Amino acid sequence: MYRLFHELAHRYDLHTPPDHYRHDHAFVLGQAAALGSPCRLLDVGCGTGVLVEKALQAGVLATGIDVSPAMIHVAQARVGTGAAAVRRMQDIDDEAAYDLVVSLSWTLNYCSGRAELVDVLRRLRRALRPGGRVLLQVAHAAHVDGRLMEDREPGPTGEPDDVLFLYRFMRVEGEDWPMRAEYVYACKSLNELTHEQHLLRMADAHAVAACVREVGLRDVQVYDSWRRDPLQGSPSPFVSAIQEAASR
Ligand SMILES: C[S@@+](CC[C@H](N)C(=O)[O-])C[C@H]1O[C@@H](n2cnc3c(N)ncnc32)[C@H](O)[C@@H]1O
Repeated sequence: MYRLFHELAHRYDLHTPPDHYRHDHAFVLGQAAALGSPCRLLDVGCGTGVLVEKALQAGVLATGIDVSPAMIHVAQARVGTGAAAVRRMQDIDDEAAYDLVVSLSWTLNYCSGRAELVDVLRRLRRALRPGGRVLLQVAHAAHVDGRLMEDREPGPTGEPDDVLFLYRFMRVEGEDWPMRAEYVYACKSLNELTHEQHLLRMADAHAVAACVREVGLRDVQVYDSWRRDPLQGSPSPFVSAIQEAASR
């Protein structure tokens, strides 16, 4: 259990403010607009519900799920109890219920390895209606360099630079493309400080794309970013694919 997603879930929007991933969110909303009216969207690993809120505001029928009750508590305060639920991605069992299934900010990399990722992808495929799309933002370890990076954000009452978020990502040896993410969260006015390491798996967009093909999704594309350019240097690319009506 990672503290950033559990005990400190109520601080998530402090170190990662809602506008932080605005370009990624705009990309998702563009895909949603292209897929149906209204589009039914599932956000897997929705965290504090920022994307779900933006999607609902755009007229999308959005639902978020997350394994963390603390994250869902924050998300439900934002979007209401009907639009966010505690659920593991490993337990998704909907059938043809969504036009678009997305998973942003490396949620899929919390799978235990390739076999579990393939099982989750099968579930995502089943959850899509024919012609629906998956959009998966995954870690790509080949593009991380172990450099320490920092964000400084306003505190809970708006004091500038009150929150410090340090992070660095490193490739590690082992099976299933492991990668280590290290995070330091500190808030001066709240006198809070925490440091933790997350072990990510399948941190390779090409390997994830191969799994996406293996479960029968088609037109698999790997994009460097929300700009939809070819993979070149991003540590956080997108894998996109379409559910065709063929075999299950
Ligand atoms: C880095 S956060 C990203 C949150 C949000 N998607 C965003 O972009 O801000 C990863 C999220 O994945 C969730 N998560 C981790 N393992 C999960 C699982 N097995 N099923 C569903 N959600 C999971 C965590 O609780 C956390 O909220």
